[in-house]
Amino acid sequence: MTAEQTSTQPEGLHQELLTYSYYRDAELRGSNLIYRLLRVLKDGESQVLLSEHLADETRHAWLWTERIRELGATPVPVTDGYQVRIGKRAGLPRHPVELLALTVIVEQRALKRYKEHMNREGTDERTLEVLRAVSRDEGWHIDWVRRKGRELAEAEGEPSRFDAALERFRVIDEAVWAELEEVERSWAEAN
Ligand SMILES: [Fe+2]
Ligand SMILES: [Fe+2]
Repeated sequence: MTAEQTSTQPEGLHQELLTYSYYRDAELRGSNLIYRLLRVLKDGESQVLLSEHLADETRHAWLWTERIRELGATPVPVTDGYQVRIGKRAGLPRHPVELLALTVIVEQRALKRYKEHMNREGTDERTLEVLRAVSRDEGWHIDWVRRKGRELAEAEGEPSRFDAALERFRVIDEAVWAELEEVERSWAEAN
């Protein structure tokens, strides 16, 4: 992110604004994964769960947007965030079992990151409030998507397909996360 791109934003907010913008971007792109699942998992139970899940993810994106607005800013465009980097390495899986596995991995990453942020010293009360609200939903998201992935793989006579996909995406997630930690360190240095 260059200084020009954020030049219309309030001074002194650089790192905070970037962090929330990246969170918002990950939530919006996560919504896109759920939207894709809505089109491939046609059974009634999945349709109900996915509708609620999609509503949660778009609300999460809104909560980060609101937090950014409270800072007197607008979201910074994010073109190299977590999901874009994952997509570059993993492609977009077509098979529903793999789409479900990828969803579990990105949800687990979000939860881990939000928890880590909650434990940071000096995090303000409003941000903690948002972090708690978004983390609250991730538990049921992970549980039902994982259950559905295993169920589907078994029903298709390939019981190990889901866990194999989880493993593959986990390796990719870790590589992407290491890159993003590097990016964050560069923000801290620029501050
Ligand atoms: Fe979320
Ligand atoms: Fe989620």
